[in-house]
Amino acid sequence: MQIPSELRRRFAEARRVLVLTGAGVSAESGVPTFRGGGNTAVWKGLPFDVISSAEMLERNLPAVWEWFDYRRDFIESLTPNAAHHEIALWQERFPEFTLVTQNIDGLHQKAGSRDVIELHGNIWRARCIACRSFYDMASGKKRPEACLECGDPLRPDVVLFGELLPPGAFERAAERAASCELCIVIGTSGLVYPAAGLPEIAKSAGAFLCEVNPEPTPLSRLCDEVLMGKAGEILQLLRS
Ligand code: APR
Repeated sequence: MQIPSELRRRFAEARRVLVLTGAGVSAESGVPTFRGGGNTAVWKGLPFDVISSAEMLERNLPAVWEWFDYRRDFIESLTPNAAHHEIALWQERFPEFTLVTQNIDGLHQKAGSRDVIELHGNIWRARCIACRSFYDMASGKKRPEACLECGDPLRPDVVLFGELLPPGAFERAAERAASCELCIVIGTSGLVYPAAGLPEIAKSAGAFLCEVNPEPTPLSRLCDEVLMGKAGEILQLLRS
């Protein structure tokens, strides 16, 4: 694929860059996406938006834990792919670089990305349902049976369907989106708000908008450039 010259120039000259990623950026690491590609995650006969919902948390917290424990076990052995590594390099390349992800798998951080704005939380953390104490579950660490501070139950520190985003996360991302010159949207179906609103914010504030995805999305029509293909193959072409 040839990178169009206008995009190449924008990429070479940009100072403030915002990247928004979704499940597609982890697809080449082996993490199933939620929508598209025939890989829709269904577990015990329940679609992911039922098992991963605020309603299920209320009704059956152990089932929600079972689902997230299963997903953590699955993700544990996976490694970042070329797209994660390339994005991690970009943080050194641009004077102001913001990475916003909808992913909870922690693969951006594994590839070396820092200060990632995680809109949907992180599967490697538990938090108390009452006092919001956090517990790290990375590198085989076990979570306690209940909160060590107040004794209330723990839940996965991820945003479930029907829940609000973590306090401040979207606001920080929106502020960066409103001031970036180049916004690159990678591997998201653009269907889940408010995350999908970030490219709109960037575009209406005058940023050049580029999408990387093997399929068209509702965001494609907003974009100045759409690079159709896999993130792991395309991203490295931008800097060459
Ligand atoms: N490179 C780039 N994009 C890819 C690749 C790839 N190798 N493989 C698939 N894609 C694209 C698909 O075409 C699709 O548009 O990634 C997108 C994945 O879309 P979703 O599964 O809907 O993922 P996402 O947009 O991140 O979902 C948003 O929905 O269920 C919730 O909380 C969950 O954060 C998630 C949110």
